Amino acid sequence: MKNRNPIKLIIFGFGKIGRELVKQILDAETQLEKESLLVSITGLADSQGLLVDPGGLTPQQIEAAFTQKQQSRSLHEMISALNRDRVSHYLDSNTILIDTTASQETLPVLKEAMAAEAGIVLANKFPLCQSWADVQDLFTYPRLKYEATVGAGLPVIAALKSLLASGDELDSIVGCLSGTLGYLCSRLEKGLAYSAAIQEACDLGFTEPDPRQDLSGMDVARKAIILSRTAGFPVELADIAVESLYPEALKTVSVSDFLQSVSQEDGRYTKLVKQASDKQKVPRYAAQITAEGIRVGLSMIEKTSPMGSLKGTDNYIALHTRRYSPSPLVISGPGAGNEVTAAGVFSDIIRLTKEMNGRR
Ligand SMILES: NC(=O)c1ccc[n+]([C@@H]2O[C@H](COP(=O)([O-])OP(=O)(O)OC[C@H]3O[C@@H](n4cnc5c(N)ncnc54)[C@H](OP(=O)(O)O)[C@@H]3O)[C@@H](O)[C@H]2O)c1
Repeated sequence: MKNRNPIKLIIFGFGKIGRELVKQILDAETQLEKESLLVSITGLADSQGLLVDPGGLTPQQIEAAFTQKQQSRSLHEMISALNRDRVSHYLDSNTILIDTTASQETLPVLKEAMAAEAGIVLANKFPLCQSWADVQDLFTYPRLKYEATVGAGLPVIAALKSLLASGDELDSIVGCLSGTLGYLCSRLEKGLAYSAAIQEACDLGFTEPDPRQDLSGMDVARKAIILSRTAGFPVELADIAVESLYPEALKTVSVSDFLQSVSQEDGRYTKLVKQASDKQKVPRYAAQITAEGIRVGLSMIEKTSPMGSLKGTDNYIALHTRRYSPSPLVISGPGAGNEVTAAGVFSDIIRLTKEMNGRR
């Protein structure tokens, strides 16, 4: 029999992705009802406050939460808000906890959600990248979905899982997993100086406020860990060889000093790109994942290959398996952006809602 009670959604993180997700859920209300997919937003949390009502937040409360964030204020300042830590009181087997924070500290609350048999949907990569001993139970938790952590809305995790579930064997995953570094590489390829390409990516809003967060390669490394662990290779972040695209000496200077000094690297990158171009190759920041380990860094790729033909911020993920050989299964397209990321989270919510309804 179908569950007639709405699945309660508690959204942790009310930033760009969290807010876009709420908009998409509200816009899809009629369609969801038509499909008997009853969901109700019962909680919204930012880094300090939690707005919660197990009966469902009213449109007025949600609107007020939007206004609060537009004014750069915390949900905590709202009259009915609770301390964020109170969320554990509202977790049960009819609830999905959605982590759209960028926080390294949400693992404890996710564990509480597991203990309460709640569903969990993640856009946040951090919880899945902590030590394997701490998170292996999360990876095997049947009510966890995390599609948006790799490739935003692209169905990468779903494809990998379904290949493995149907008895295929993974040989390797090769991918360009960062829109920002993809953009940087395609601008270098066009002859732009390294420092100018970074400044351009910053100006277009493609980088984090501190571009070193992208250039360090750590975001790609985290996505690679998630893919590797999903494939059954329990690698640790410390084991990965990650090539940073900026020198160690510029690690601790201010962002503006970094942007001023980074032109010292222009000559090195111009030379690398020229050498590659002479051999009909182009630079790509890629991750290579096998059972033996992960490498994350700059590679020179045949210009005419699918990865070499990649444009701008698009992601590219090739799954090389026993069945998909010699041609891999390829997934490519926008791997970042608020709308596609929130849509990836929303699809996970819908899938999990169906699964949770089917259980009853
Ligand atoms: N943007 C993309 O294209 C993309 C693609 C894939 C995945 N993602 C991932 O999506 C996540 C969200 O990104 P975003 O751009 O929306 O970030 P954001 O705008 O910085 O928003 C983060 C939100 O999380 C809240 N928060 C921080 N710590 C929290 C905690 N411990 N408990 C509850 N809420 C907390 C923040 O609260 P305050 O408002 O109080 O600071 C803020 O509302 C990140 O993990 C990101 O890596 C993004």
